Amino acid sequence: MDKFVIRGGNPLLGTIKVSGAKNSALPCMAAAILTEDEVILENIPQVRDIETERRLLESMGAEVELGYGRAQHRTSIKCAVLSDPVAKYEIVKTMRASSLVLGPLIARTGMARVAMPGGCAIGGRPIDLHIKGLEAMGATITQEHGYLEARTNRLKGAHIVFDKITVTGTEDLLMAAVMAEGESLFENCAREPEVIDLAALLNAMGAQIKGAGTSTIRIKGVAKLHGARHRINPDRIEAGTFLIAGAITGGDLNVDCCNPAHLGSLLGKLEQCGVKLDIGKENVRVRSGNKLVAADITTEEYPGFPTDMQAQYMALATQAEGTSVVTENIFENRFMHVGELNRMGANITVQGRSATVRGGTKLQSAAVMCSDLRASAALVLAALVADGESILDRVYHMDRGYERLEEKLRGVGAQIRRMGEVFGKK
Ligand code: EPZ
Repeated sequence: MDKFVIRGGNPLLGTIKVSGAKNSALPCMAAAILTEDEVILENIPQVRDIETERRLLESMGAEVELGYGRAQHRTSIKCAVLSDPVAKYEIVKTMRASSLVLGPLIARTGMARVAMPGGCAIGGRPIDLHIKGLEAMGATITQEHGYLEARTNRLKGAHIVFDKITVTGTEDLLMAAVMAEGESLFENCAREPEVIDLAALLNAMGAQIKGAGTSTIRIKGVAKLHGARHRINPDRIEAGTFLIAGAITGGDLNVDCCNPAHLGSLLGKLEQCGVKLDIGKENVRVRSGNKLVAADITTEEYPGFPTDMQAQYMALATQAEGTSVVTENIFENRFMHVGELNRMGANITVQGRSATVRGGTKLQSAAVMCSDLRASAALVLAALVADGESILDRVYHMDRGYERLEEKLRGVGAQIRRMGEVFGKK
């Protein structure tokens, strides 16, 4: 099991580059299932979940090239023949976003067999809304032996109102609707930038989608889709993580190659905490200056404060003067980082969906355990400011969604190294 060794105390100085968004790349790669032609995606992050998606597509018969030359991170996917439209359990169990192939598989082949994704560390994470939407579009779906079996002659456009706002649910059904017979009207959709990114790719492939990024999306079904080339958005959560790294270490950090327009609620909250920000067109510079002051957050669907930034913000709150209340509205068990932060000297108590963070605590280095992608990021941030050397175990969680994290952080002055092999380097 890979470990990170981090010695705290260095302010981060210089420029750090943001990679492409994992949560855009995953649905966009699945969208390639909808056509026999080649789909080329640029600015793909070099992270484990992308490798998993590649294995998943290849297991179904797709030809996938994945290149991470310094100049460009890109993938070419060709689903000319889908010989085995099955998402097998051994892959799905490692990445629940595999359920994103459900909609495109049914749309393309009229059938799909997808292992039910179990829950994960942060919650049960059912996909009942994906299933309900596909049934509304005419798919017959049975569940047996841990697999979803879906069949249809041809999907029909439908009027779907999501009971809950779901990001991959919106994406899955978008991909199901683009070649359905007739029109679809989706309401109470997710408004995340990743949904906009996917819709942009689908429209480039010949789909007719209007309203992506708003709660109401209209889709006119077309007979066929063709190949396209598309550049993936920058990763807004990686950018936010780096901004907090600059703030928590009292540094002067330029977070480059990002899209500040996707960071609205986070930037406002950081300024409320006293963090100084210079916001550019494709970068945000974070500087220390005033002391950090406490501020409460409540996670909401986009454009509210992102649940994927909750753990990282909590690490920052341990250093702010005063008490911050962190309320997690999206997932039922997303406080796995609290116990480990407290072992580093934080003073956090959890009551139901809220955590109370008493700030101004000096963090001490410790041996800690990563539990999920964003909780791991919170532990890295805490270790960057703790005195002494921390050991973070199970950093494979980090490798799922952060590209070359230790290299990027070392490049701006962090004392971080990895024990064990390095993902992505043979
Ligand atoms: C996406 O997960 C992201 N993953 C998550 O990022 C992110 O935390 C989440 O959206 C919320 O923003 C990808 O895009 C690959 P949801 P998703 O469906 O789509 C409930 C990361 O760190 N729900 O929007 O699975 C669900 O239980 C990951 O990169 C149902 O009840 O999340 C949750 O409480 C973690 N039934 C809420 O909706 C359903 O059918 C929002 O979940 C679907 C969802």
